[in-house]
Amino acid sequence: MPNMNRSSLRARRTWEHGTVAALVCIGFSVVFLVLVGRQETNMAEDRATAGWDRVLPLIKLGHLPAVLPDSTADKTQAIQVLNGRGRVVAATRQLAGKPPIATLRQTGGGVRTQQTLCSPAGLKGCMTVLLFKVYSQPDGIWLIDVAAPVVPWYGNTTVLLLAIGASLLMTAMTTAWAFRAVGMDFAPVEAIRTELAEITATGLHRRVPVPKYQEIRSLAETANDTLDRLEGAYQQLRRFTSDASHDLRSPVTAMRIQVEEALMYPDDTDWPQAMTAVLAGIDRLQAIVTDLLTLDRLDANAPLTREPTDLTQLVSAELDRRTPGMQIVKDLHDNVVITCDRLRITRLLANLLDNAERHATSQIRVTLRADTVRADGSTATLEVIDDGAGIPAEHREKVFDRFTRLDTSRNRDAGGTGLGLPIARQIAQAHQGTLTVQDSERGARLVLRLPVCDPSPCH
Ligand SMILES: Nc1ncnc2c1ncn2[C@@H]1O[C@H](COP(=O)(O)OP(=O)(O)OP(=O)(O)O)[C@@H](O)[C@H]1O
Ligand SMILES: [Mg+2]
Repeated sequence: MPNMNRSSLRARRTWEHGTVAALVCIGFSVVFLVLVGRQETNMAEDRATAGWDRVLPLIKLGHLPAVLPDSTADKTQAIQVLNGRGRVVAATRQLAGKPPIATLRQTGGGVRTQQTLCSPAGLKGCMTVLLFKVYSQPDGIWLIDVAAPVVPWYGNTTVLLLAIGASLLMTAMTTAWAFRAVGMDFAPVEAIRTELAEITATGLHRRVPVPKYQEIRSLAETANDTLDRLEGAYQQLRRFTSDASHDLRSPVTAMRIQVEEALMYPDDTDWPQAMTAVLAGIDRLQAIVTDLLTLDRLDANAPLTREPTDLTQLVSAELDRRTPGMQIVKDLHDNVVITCDRLRITRLLANLLDNAERHATSQIRVTLRADTVRADGSTATLEVIDDGAGIPAEHREKVFDRFTRLDTSRNRDAGGTGLGLPIARQIAQAHQGTLTVQDSERGARLVLRLPVCDPSPCH
């Protein structure tokens, strides 16, 4: 059953169409009835003139009977003939023995005069009375009074009922058509609504039907785009949850086995060594949980504590902090200043350098410069290049997905969580920057670009 309450667009459109149709029908009917009324009035006058025509020869020939025969054309027509002294000398049956119906005696003016009189000489209803003068009679001017019921403005009742009936029919048909047409127009919207209502968390693969009409097609396409994104986000969330559970479970399982073994053979257990292993597991759990919390804050767009920062100094300090396990070549331009959350950018740098250290063979190269590559200002470009195995082209985007660790890393080093690069990229994006893996002759080349702040607000 369609929703027809006051807020229903279908009801409203139907009501509007019905009202317009009714007004148009009323307008046409009134014009039609007025025309019919005029035509009827003219015909009544013609019949009155015919009555006069019928009686006049009888007067002239002196064959006027006291009771005049009824008009065959109009049975309601009543005729009276008054002589020069104003006495009724002849009349049709309805007026036989009645006094004159028209009291006004016309002596001057035209041959024909018209009056409207109500119940004249006992006749029913209002009458249009035409008075015709007959000259050249021995006792003066005679009068022929022809009375017929007043023609209403709409002509007659039959035409009036016909017009009302036709108007009601037209209005009803238009309203029904509008109801159906609007219903058909909105059918695709209803189909979209029904489909959306049925799409649940388990049916996110479903899409709403796309109709052919442009306006609603855009709505359906937008809804489907939204569903695409929603499905993508949902699948990512599921993947993330399952990866997170898996990564949390592994150290817990390892710690449990170590503790159980130690408790089973307490005397044979090297307790400091066992506790150190458990502590390593706890460290790993702590690292994962910390990373997850960091990601959660970044996902929630937590506000950054931005301050003007000399990126050159920050990178230098981060490099100096590291124990030189391998050769580090640095090429840093002076005084590259950005507005950033210092802690977060340090976290980003640490991750890039940790990765490089973990994967490099013997050398890490770090460069920093300020380029004017953006229309709205300069960009600081930091590159961290190592001489390790590198990241294959097909995995250069994948490494930014949460919990991604390439097979080589899993084999070489079980310590990583696979959250470092996703966090680093989100930090870069929170600073309106980018972090990408780019082509390199040898090893991996991670490129960070961040907007350089204008000198004035920074200093
Ligand atoms: N410099 C690099 N050379 C080769 N592979 C790399 C390099 N940096 C990252 N990767 C690959 O990308 C994966 C994801 O890196 P990411 O920093 O996100 O995680 P991780 O280093 O494994 O763990 P975490 O950073 O959380 O300790 C790594 O596991 C590794 O396989
Ligand atoms: Mg890392």
